[in-house]
Amino acid sequence: MQLSDNEFQQIITYVKGRYGIDLSKKRVLIAGRLENYLLRNGYKSYSEYIQIVNKNPDGAEAKNLVNVLTTNHTYFMRESVHFDYLRQYVLPWVKQIQANKSRDVRVWCAASSTGEEPYTIQMVLSDFFNMDKMWDTQILATDISTRVLQKAKSGVYLEEEIAPLPDAWKKKYLTKIDGEKYQFKEEIRKKVVFRTFNLMDNITFKGKFHVVFLRNVMIYFEEETKRQLLGRIYEHMVEGGYLFIGTTESIGKNQGMFQYMQPSVYRRI
Ligand SMILES: C[S@@+](CC[C@H](N)C(=O)[O-])C[C@H]1O[C@@H](n2cnc3c(N)ncnc32)[C@H](O)[C@@H]1O
Repeated sequence: MQLSDNEFQQIITYVKGRYGIDLSKKRVLIAGRLENYLLRNGYKSYSEYIQIVNKNPDGAEAKNLVNVLTTNHTYFMRESVHFDYLRQYVLPWVKQIQANKSRDVRVWCAASSTGEEPYTIQMVLSDFFNMDKMWDTQILATDISTRVLQKAKSGVYLEEEIAPLPDAWKKKYLTKIDGEKYQFKEEIRKKVVFRTFNLMDNITFKGKFHVVFLRNVMIYFEEETKRQLLGRIYEHMVEGGYLFIGTTESIGKNQGMFQYMQPSVYRRI
């Protein structure tokens, strides 16, 4: 199946307009991933498919397009320096400011992919607050891909996937379910709420966050898209709240919204 220049332009315009993802240099990736999908599903051309997606941007095919074209690579303990920082600096601060208030810790993992990142955050929280019932440590985890969220919600991972986790965590928070598979215990799963959310949309979650993990997703966005997204996130964080981005990403030190703490760690001004 041939991907014409016109079809390629239509796809990249659609994906960028709706999801902010810049695929203009990813022609080979688009053709490779989409061709397989189209052939498997009986489409005769890219145009036929694009028409269906355009006609119903909230329909099943539009969702499938996102599922096929997003890059969801993640793994347990990725950039683990952030989890140490969370434990050492961020949670003691949240505990201090919240102790005499609502005692809820508001964390948003904003591009959670298949769940490795939010479950790790939850294990750090559970250790820190020692499952103290007085503290509400439920966190929000969102992604645009419904396919990855399905896996994330199940909380099921292969033995090789959980290999990077410390043994103590494996024992405390996971159960072997069959053969090579492990599942997070219910006490952890129920404290991670997964939702579909497009980072290009207005943020409508209630309350302001103490911590936002926005790691390894802005690499797909252009500067202006990043700037606007950071503006929306700024509005939904408490003063002094912490923002973690990917260790290879940067938001600049003088954007006026977030104070630089160390590479990839910022505080809302
Ligand atoms: C490379 S993964 C990063 C996963 C994890 N944060 C990490 O650092 O390991 C990027 C994720 O961002 C999601 N994503 C891309 N564009 C998005 C958008 N506009 N809204 C929400 N999620 C998006 C993708 O679906 C993908 O799962």
